[in-house]
Amino acid sequence: MTTTQRVLLAVCGGIAAYKAAELTRLLRKQGAQVRIAMTASAQQFVSPLTFQALSGHPVATDLLDASQENAMGHINLAKWADTLVVAPATANSLAKFSHGLADDLVSTLYLAATCPLYLAPAMNQAMWHKAVTQDNIARLKQQGAIIIGPEQGDQACGDTGLGRMAEPAAICQQLFNTAPPVDGLLHGLTVLISAGPTREPLDPVRYLTNRSSGKMGYALAAAAVQAGAKVTLVSGPVALTAPAYSEVITVESAAQMCHAVLAKAAQADIYIGAAAVADYTPSTVFTNKFKKQGDETSLSLQKTQDILASVAALTPAPFTVGFAAETNDLENYALDKLARKKVDMIAANWVGQQYGGFDSEQNALQVYWHNGQQHLAMTDKTKLAAQLIALIATRWHEKNTT
Ligand code: C5P
Repeated sequence: MTTTQRVLLAVCGGIAAYKAAELTRLLRKQGAQVRIAMTASAQQFVSPLTFQALSGHPVATDLLDASQENAMGHINLAKWADTLVVAPATANSLAKFSHGLADDLVSTLYLAATCPLYLAPAMNQAMWHKAVTQDNIARLKQQGAIIIGPEQGDQACGDTGLGRMAEPAAICQQLFNTAPPVDGLLHGLTVLISAGPTREPLDPVRYLTNRSSGKMGYALAAAAVQAGAKVTLVSGPVALTAPAYSEVITVESAAQMCHAVLAKAAQADIYIGAAAVADYTPSTVFTNKFKKQGDETSLSLQKTQDILASVAALTPAPFTVGFAAETNDLENYALDKLARKKVDMIAANWVGQQYGGFDSEQNALQVYWHNGQQHLAMTDKTKLAAQLIALIATRWHEKNTT
C-alpha cells in the first residue's frame, strides 16, 4: 500500500473497538486518508465522535439515513476505498461477510467493496475456536480476504487464549509493508506453493503428522508476491497468517493437498512443493476411537500419492521445485529426487537437532538443478525465501527463453 492510499476502516462491536482509535491515528500518521464506518454495537463501545476527531471526517453509521447517504453513499464509500480494513471483526460480522449478508452498513460495505479486504478478528477464545467460526474464516480466506491475527493472550472476559485483536501497529505494518508490487522477477507469472504439514487421520481423535511449521512455504509465498507473481498457497494446518495478496486454500490430509494442488497446477507457471507431505497414511480410518489393546500394536500404512512427482509429470508441467529435508546423505538424496521425480529444482536442507530446518526461524539450503547447484547460507527464512525465489525466477527465465 502506498502512503497516499484511502483506507476505509470498519469498526464492529467488541471491546477491541477502542484499539481501532489507535489504528486510525497510526494509519493517518502513515499518510493514509481514513474514513470510518461503525456498526450499531461498535457505537456502544466507542463514540463516533472519537473517530470523527481522529479521522477528520464524519463517521458513517447508517445504511438508510438520507443525510449520511447524501454526504457519501455507501456504494461510493466502498468505491472510494483502496483498502477496506475491518477491525475489530466480530464473529457475527465474519459470519455475515462469509455468507454475503448485507443487513447493515458495514456488511453492505464489505459486500460492495472491490478493493483488498483485511479482517482483524477479535472475540472470546471459545467463539474463535468454534467450528462454524473457523469455517467462516476458511471461506473468507478462499474468497481472498486477508486475516490479520487474532493473537493469544488475556481476554476482557477473563479467559486466556486466541482471540485478542492484533495490535494496531501490527495491522498497520501488514497494510503498509505488503503492497502488491507492479513489477518484479516473477511479474505476470502464476506461482503455486504448498506449505505446512499434513494430518493423516487414524480415527476421529487421532492423526499422524510432523513438525513442519509452514514458515518456509509461507515465506516463499510472501517473497513470490513481492516478486510480482499471482500466488496460490495450498496450506496444511499451521498457526501462520497468510501473506497479503495471495489466495489460500486450506487442507488437512495429503490426499486433500494432492487434490487441491492438482486442481490448480495446470494454470501455474511455477509449482513449489514446500509442504512436508506425509509419505504414508493409515490404511484404515477407524469410525470409532481406536481402543487400547495389549502391550504392543501396529498400524498398517499405505503410501500417499507423490504430489511433486504428479505435478512434474503433467504435460505441460509447470517449472517444478521440490524440497528435500534430510538427516544424512543430503546431496545423494537430493540428486536422486531431482532425477526420480523429474523436477526442475530441489532445495535441500539438513534437519535434526543441531540444524535449523523444521519448526525453526532459520534455515540454509543447497539448491540443485540439472548441471548446477548453489549454496544459500544459514539466515532467517524470510531472507532465504527471497534468495530462493530469485534463483527460481532466474532458472525459469533461462528455461523459457532457450
Ligand atoms: O520423497 P520426499 O518426501 O523426501 O520428497 C520431498 C519433496 O516431495 C517435497 O518437496 C515434498 O513436498 C514432496 N512430496 C510430495 N508428495 C508426497 C511426498 C513428498 O509432493 N507424497
